[in-house]
Amino acid sequence: MSFNPGRTCLAIVLAAGEGTRMQSARPKVLHALAGRSMLAHCMASVATAGADRIAVVVGPGREDVAAEAKSVSPGASVFVQAERRGTAHAVLAAEAAIAEGYDYVLIVFADTPLIKSETLRQLRLRAHDAQAAVAALGFEARDPTGYGRFLVEGEKLIAIREEKDASPDERRLTLVNAGLMALDGRTALDLLKQIDTDNAKGEFYLTDVVAAAASRGLASTISVAGEDEVLGVNDRIQLARAEAVLQTRLRDYAMRGGATLIDPASVTLAYDTVLGRDVTVEPHVVFAPGVRVADGVTIRSFSHLEGVTVGPRATIGPFARLRPGSVLHEDVHVGNFVEIKASTLEAGVKANHLSYIGDASVGAKTNIGAGTITCNYNGFQKFKTTIGAGAFIGVNSALVAPVTIGDGAYIGTGSVVTRDVAPDALVVARAPQVEKPGWAKMFRDKNKR
Ligand code: UD1
Ligand code: MG
Repeated sequence: MSFNPGRTCLAIVLAAGEGTRMQSARPKVLHALAGRSMLAHCMASVATAGADRIAVVVGPGREDVAAEAKSVSPGASVFVQAERRGTAHAVLAAEAAIAEGYDYVLIVFADTPLIKSETLRQLRLRAHDAQAAVAALGFEARDPTGYGRFLVEGEKLIAIREEKDASPDERRLTLVNAGLMALDGRTALDLLKQIDTDNAKGEFYLTDVVAAAASRGLASTISVAGEDEVLGVNDRIQLARAEAVLQTRLRDYAMRGGATLIDPASVTLAYDTVLGRDVTVEPHVVFAPGVRVADGVTIRSFSHLEGVTVGPRATIGPFARLRPGSVLHEDVHVGNFVEIKASTLEAGVKANHLSYIGDASVGAKTNIGAGTITCNYNGFQKFKTTIGAGAFIGVNSALVAPVTIGDGAYIGTGSVVTRDVAPDALVVARAPQVEKPGWAKMFRDKNKR
C-alpha cells in the first residue's frame, strides 16, 4: 500500500483537555504564546502543512474553544468529545470527518503548539516512503518519564507502550512518542475502532493504533523531531518554557531578515511581528500582535507597540507607547513618554516628548510640542482631531476634539483649543499674563513675624 503525500488531508486537533494544572478560569488551549492562542498556533501549523480540512475536538460546554477555532479558520469543524475517555476516543469524536474519506489523517495536540508545519509534512512523507498505515512522531527524551515508549524492530515501529503499562526494561527506552501521528486515510477508521480499553488507565489509547495496524499486517513508522518542538504545555511553567522557545525562533527569524536586536533576550515579539531590514531594536521592547516596521527604523528601549505600522527610518522611544490603529509614515519621530492611539502621523511628524495623540490625523512635518494632549473623550463618545501639514503645536496645548487645525497654523504654548483654527493662523488660548510690580516683596514683608 502506498501513502500519497500530495492528496487530501484531514487534520484533527485534540483540544478537549481540562488543563487543571494551569489553575486557570480559561481553557488551557486558549492561553497565548507570542500573542495568540496555543490552539491557533496548532491550527496555523496544520493549515501550512497542507490540511484541506481541520476538525477540532473540544470538551463539553467549551463554546469559547469552539469560537476560537472558528475565528482562526471559519471553515473548521468542531466536534465535542462528551466524555474524556482517551486520545483514540477523542479522535473518534471526529468520526464523521474521517468517514468523508481523506487520503491521510493528521492528528495533533493543541497543547503541543510549537510543532512546525515542515515536521508535519515530513511525518506524512515518512509514512509514504515506508508505505505505512501509521507514522508516529517521536523524540529522544532527556527524561522519558511519562511518555509512551516506541518499541521498534529495525526500522519498524511495532507498538507504543504507555508508561503505566511498560515493563522496567521498556521504561529505559528513551525514544518516546510525541503523540502526533499521520494515518493512512483508507485504514484510519477501521484501526481506530479496533482500539479497546484493555490497559492500566482503562482508556482508549491512540497509541494502540500501531498494534492494531500490526495485527492486520500493516506497517507503522517513526519520524523524529527535536524535543523543544514537541514540548507539551500542562502548567504555567511549561507555558513559559514554550514561550521562550518560540521567542528564540521569532528573534532568530527577525535577525536573519536584517534586524539588529541589541539584546535579543529582552525583546518580546508577537507571532506576526514584521521587522524590515536595518531596523534596530534596543533592549526591553515589547511587540504585541499586528506590528509592521519598515526598513531603517530605530526603536529605543522600553517601548510598547501593538497594531501599528511604522514607516521607513522612523525613530520610536525610548518609553513610547504605540497603540492599535496607528500608522506612522516615514521619518516620523516619536519620543519619550508619548502615547499614540488610532492616529495617522504623516511623513516627518515629530512628537518628541510627553504627549497623548488619540483618534487624530497629523499632516506632514507638523511639530507636536511637549505635553500636547488631544482631548478625544468626553466620558461617553470619542472625537477626532485633525491637524494639517506643517503646523506647530505649542508646548502643553490641549486640543479639545472634535477640532481641526489648518495647515501651517501655530498654536501658542499652553493653549486650550476648542474651536477650529484656520490655516497659517496663530491661536493663543490661555489667560493673559498679569504682572504686579513689587507684589511678592510686599506679600513677604506683610507676613514677616
Ligand atoms: C499522550 C500519549 C503518549 C505521549 C504523550 C506525549 C496516548 C495514549 N499517549 O499521553 O504516548 O508520549 O501524549 O505528550 O495518546 N485528549 C483529549 N481527550 C481525551 C484525552 C486526551 O482531547 O479523552 C487530548 C488532551 O487534551 C491532549 C492530548 O489529547 O491535548 C494528549 O492527552 P494527554 O492526556 O496529555 O496524553 P498523555 O498521557 O500525555
Ligand atoms: Mg500530555
